[in-house]
Amino acid sequence: MATHSLFLLPGDGIGTEIMLEVEKLIKWTNSEQLTDFSTDAGLAGGSAYDKYQVAITDEDTEKAKAADAVIFGAVGGPKWDDVPYEHRPEAALLRLRKEMAVFANLRPAICYPALADASSLKRELVEGLDILIVRELTGGVYFGEPKTITDLENGQKRAVDTQVYETYEIDRIARVAFDLARTRNNKVHSADKKNVMKSGVLWDEVVKGVGKDYADVELHHILADNAAMQLVRNPKQFDVMVTDNLFGDILSDVAAMLTGSLGMLPSASLGSPDPATGKRKAFYEPVHGSAPDIAGKGIANPIAMIASVAMALRYSFGMIELATKIENAISAVLSDGLRTGDIAQDNRKTVGTEEMGAAILAKLKA
Ligand code: NAD
Ligand code: IPM
Ligand code: MN
Repeated sequence: MATHSLFLLPGDGIGTEIMLEVEKLIKWTNSEQLTDFSTDAGLAGGSAYDKYQVAITDEDTEKAKAADAVIFGAVGGPKWDDVPYEHRPEAALLRLRKEMAVFANLRPAICYPALADASSLKRELVEGLDILIVRELTGGVYFGEPKTITDLENGQKRAVDTQVYETYEIDRIARVAFDLARTRNNKVHSADKKNVMKSGVLWDEVVKGVGKDYADVELHHILADNAAMQLVRNPKQFDVMVTDNLFGDILSDVAAMLTGSLGMLPSASLGSPDPATGKRKAFYEPVHGSAPDIAGKGIANPIAMIASVAMALRYSFGMIELATKIENAISAVLSDGLRTGDIAQDNRKTVGTEEMGAAILAKLKA
């Protein structure tokens, strides 16, 4: 079996706690010869800042670019509120996304049957939910220039962020969404704000153009604000939703609550296939952050992190069977009634991060 390299970046807060469960999982799949992963680990976010005074070093950035896949925990926290803006923990994430050119961020929101009552929405709205948000990840207002705060003569300040999209960026993310829709229910909703934003006008024009190559896929346009409302009104009307960097960030947190908790949502960020090798750079991380409010307590839900590893197996290594096995193990522990605090209903007893990770591993071993 080919050896694949994983570069682990646990980050800060609960990132380090949930990554421990990933390490145990990989150790087991390697020992069973289900995988042959070599792993290396680095520092990102506040933990890198504390040691090197930068959010991520050049060396770790190069290691991330060279790895077959990066597995990332989460970064950030109040401890680093006052560090210089360019070195804030989140800068690590943005640098890696940009330098790895992982423009296609897949954020599946699946409501596991046992969790239909854990959502803040009624059971019938979320039971059986399986939607996929395809978020553009390397463009838009996150990266557009100018991005400045300047002092004005009148003593006030002026802050500028710039939303920029070029045709090729919209074209390639639209193709990812349409291709994925073909493997699902052949339906794409494209969300933008073409009623107020020029970038939205171009977004819609390009997505509709790409849609002509996918006559078998139903394409719907939706304004992003309405998309937010429809996600909580009737989420099952959606299959694939494609949208820009900022709207995708917000809409995926909304989608998370349909599944029960932000602690449930994994993600994959993929680059373009290399023309020579066909390999694509890939970055896997939970959608949630470092959860400073619960960090250090051992109670974070590791499911989003573990499910992100399952996505790595599926999208980077073609190990569909093992990926499905992990997802089934997650579903099985939930059906057994195991709950971390974020997904607990009633006054059910809850388990911690380690216990949840161990239970998933035990299902895999069974
Ligand atoms: P957050 O996602 O860290 O937390 C939001 C809420 O969800 C909190 O109440 C938290 O306890 C809960 N939560 C999140 N993940 C959970 C899990 N696995 N198990 C149980 N509960 C969970 O968002 P925030 O509080 O807005 O941000 C905190 C820090 O994380 C900020 O510095 C932010 O920039 C950063 N952040 C990082 C990433 C990332 O690294 N990918 C993503 C989002 C936010
Ligand atoms: C996410 C996060 C990041 C984003 C932050 C931490 C930079 O919220 O991955 O959803 O805004 O993309
Ligand atoms: Mn986010």
